[in-house]
Amino acid sequence: MRMLDALARKSLDRPPVWFMRQAGRYLPEYRELRRLHSFAEATHTPEIAAEITLQPVRRFGLDAAIVFSDIMTPLEAMGVPVEFTPGPSLSPLSLEDVSRLPELDLDRVEFVMETLALARAELPDDVALIGFCGAPFTLMAYLLEGGGSKDFMAVRSAAVRNPKLAAEALHGLARSMQRYLEAQIAAGADVVQVFDSWAGLVSERTFLDTVGPAAAATLEGLTAPTIFFAPDASHLLDHFPTVRATGYGVDWRLPLPVAWDRIGRSHPIQGSLDPAVLLTDPETVQREVTALLDTVRGAAGHIFNLGHGIHRASPIENVSAMVAAAKEAS
Ligand code: CP3
Repeated sequence: MRMLDALARKSLDRPPVWFMRQAGRYLPEYRELRRLHSFAEATHTPEIAAEITLQPVRRFGLDAAIVFSDIMTPLEAMGVPVEFTPGPSLSPLSLEDVSRLPELDLDRVEFVMETLALARAELPDDVALIGFCGAPFTLMAYLLEGGGSKDFMAVRSAAVRNPKLAAEALHGLARSMQRYLEAQIAAGADVVQVFDSWAGLVSERTFLDTVGPAAAATLEGLTAPTIFFAPDASHLLDHFPTVRATGYGVDWRLPLPVAWDRIGRSHPIQGSLDPAVLLTDPETVQREVTALLDTVRGAAGHIFNLGHGIHRASPIENVSAMVAAAKEAS
């Protein structure tokens, strides 16, 4: 598998190609299915979720599929109901509430495992299946805030007020997510990715003291290669390896070689085209993809991806141009 080879830093004729949020609303066939089924129904029904997982791979010939689910989906199996409107929405919890959450009940996320098994059975042998979860800090950010936020002050202030309880709460989430990822691997995931979407909000010290160790605990002992992704975290790149993932995902803010030098060239890297490039035109997309690949041409351990999730308004012809240009990179 090209994806596993890149994570093992083998020399390849071209990098593996996939992109975050590849199963989603920019795709007409996704919107078609979502007309018939709510997001909750689509994620909870293995046949539908597996179909959505496969859609972008069929259309673009990608080297990896990411299971169709959400970072907030497993929280229901810890007793926290979450609605999608379309972002996650829930009754805000206190830090004490989070520290007392029960461990994830794996029987209640069996639908995710069935989705993985169905998707794995349909995928070509050389296409990797990616499982995922939210990192403890990012999950806690949503749990304390009750939904999305620009600055997630609730989690940041709670962590300062009571660092000991915050660390305890994060480690509880880490234990559950570690078991959730291992179950995904057992169900057919070839690689797992941890999304720490809001880790970039914290200081270097808080990352080293609490946020990073909780992400590390999530990955500890897993039996498949792992990727840790945190956007808007240029100030933390030197410390990414403390998470002890196999590879690291970065956004577009720094040139890819600069980010790679900071993380360390011995670690595989994934990224990092600006999703805004996909709102231009096929010629511009091709030029930008080629320019990006020229900066790391030939380096073992690069996985082509966007620097964050694809924007829903991205025209299909631009996405096709991106994949074609990335695959021509030999
Ligand atoms: O294709 C894929 O990447 C797999 C599926 C996936 C979804 N969410 C589906 C989804 C993945 C990997 C996620 C991760 C996720 N979810 C993250 C981490 C990645 C990141 O973007 O930083 C976060 C922070 C969330 C929380 C979340 N869920 C938000 C903010 C939203 C609203 C998104 C938006 O674009 O409006 C969701 C809902 C959601 N999750 C949708 C999808 C396809 C849109 C649901 C719809 O169809 O209405």
